[in-house]
Amino acid sequence: MIIGVLHEALPGETRVSATPTTVEKLIELGYSVVIEPGAGSASSFSDDSYVAAGASIGDAATAEIIFGINAPSTEQLDRLREGSTVISLLSPGLNPDLVADLARRRITALAMDAVPRISRAQSLDVLSSMANIAGYRAVIEAANAFGRFFTGQITAAGKVPPAKVLVAGVGVAGLAAIGTAGGMGAIVYATDPRPEVADQVVSLGGTYLEVDAADVEVSTTGYAKEMSDDYNARAAALYAKWAPEIDILITTALIPGRAAPILITADMVASMKRGSVIVDMAAANGGNVEGTVRGEVVVTANGVTIIGYTDLPGRLAAQASQLFSTNLVNLMKLMTPAKDGVLVLDWDDPVQRGITVAREGETTWPPPAVQVSAAPTQPAAEQVIAEASPAKVPMTTARRFTYVGIGAALLLLLVAASPPSFRVHLTVFVLAIVIGNYVIGSVHHALHTPLMSVTNAISGIIVVGALLQIGHGNTAITVLAFVAVLVASINVFGGFAVTRRMLSMFSRS
Ligand code: NAI
Repeated sequence: MIIGVLHEALPGETRVSATPTTVEKLIELGYSVVIEPGAGSASSFSDDSYVAAGASIGDAATAEIIFGINAPSTEQLDRLREGSTVISLLSPGLNPDLVADLARRRITALAMDAVPRISRAQSLDVLSSMANIAGYRAVIEAANAFGRFFTGQITAAGKVPPAKVLVAGVGVAGLAAIGTAGGMGAIVYATDPRPEVADQVVSLGGTYLEVDAADVEVSTTGYAKEMSDDYNARAAALYAKWAPEIDILITTALIPGRAAPILITADMVASMKRGSVIVDMAAANGGNVEGTVRGEVVVTANGVTIIGYTDLPGRLAAQASQLFSTNLVNLMKLMTPAKDGVLVLDWDDPVQRGITVAREGETTWPPPAVQVSAAPTQPAAEQVIAEASPAKVPMTTARRFTYVGIGAALLLLLVAASPPSFRVHLTVFVLAIVIGNYVIGSVHHALHTPLMSVTNAISGIIVVGALLQIGHGNTAITVLAFVAVLVASINVFGGFAVTRRMLSMFSRS
């Protein structure tokens, strides 16, 4: 089959739905590829580079499969063949007329913005790919409009404080923004109604600001629900408190299918410092900030710049095209099981069913609900087992004291019955267990790798001690020394092997 790649008709669109790299992959799957003249020029891909990758330049509308970033324009649709398959962003929920039109033209339409947020579909998820780029670009736009460094510096000309960045909404775009701003040296704060993102914020070096409200709960879908008035009031108090403190605010709050919630009022913007910058990523859905103008940059009376760009991924055109078109290749891999250049739409696959909005003259939107996997709920049977199992019941304080008491009594008996020289060793041994348990138990996960180095050093000392004892003459001591050498050596050599493997994961081949 032939795949046609459209020259995007939407004014200002810089992205393209295939790159020379992805053309090669599509050809490997058995397809022929036709690119419209100049389709990749705004993304820096020349027609010649497509030809070198194996594509031909021509009219994409004659192909059986049509790739696009945005929905084809009416003029483009008029040129398409009946029975062809269009694959692009379609916003089917917002464009019922377009979906009906596609069905009427007997065009099969696959909406890349309807990919369900499940682990298996991650490699096709263009919204996440684009939000990731947009989050990065939002920070770059903010840095461009901000008159100072992001990172703190001490220079001969004086001390520069680091910029303070607040990210409201920690989804895909929010996480990318946190990582980018942190990487540029800013102090980053972030908030979100889904408490499960707190660890992700911390792991990126940010500080999670919690809104203490009753309806904050772990999401089972990966998306937030509409929050209560109580939550919104407490969140507003948090934003009002932080607005005068921060230099950069990036808002990404989104509840699917709703207008963007207003988080930042005009009063809060008025309380921000002169020179501060807001990037309202939700501008296309109405904005999270009062005063945002869709697609524009405005400067308020108190000197705060509000950026409302809705084309942030397109401002990194080559990167966005590469990721978008790789998502399309992944979809084609799924739909070309025999790698023979023949598209097979599997109606029983929830992912393929979920993105198909029109087929054989019928509208097939909305699809049946898909169980998403963001926070898997425990199966009922497992819950019952968990409740019935005595092993899961936490130990009562009385029982814990009884066990500790029995342990202490046995230890005392052992000490009393042992020769004086052994008592010293035993005391050191017991103290080492207790202190070691407390010290290692309190080490943060992030420090486990340096901890491994320390345990390697300790194992080295054990090997030396055991080697000194191994020729002692007493069989029991020799056996113990041999076991000590063996176990400690496993730790030393195992540690080296694991570290080497980890390092090789980061080295450029
Ligand atoms: P997402 O669904 O992954 O994340 C949205 C986050 O907002 C979620 O973590 C959610 O819990 C949070 N949220 C919902 N209600 C909130 C509230 N009241 N307060 C604080 N947080 C709240 O969405 P994604 O993919 O990260 O996109 C974020 C936004 O960026 C969307 O509005 C999207 O349309 C926009 N976007 C904008 C682009 C541009 O060029 N301006 C490009 C790509 C995405």
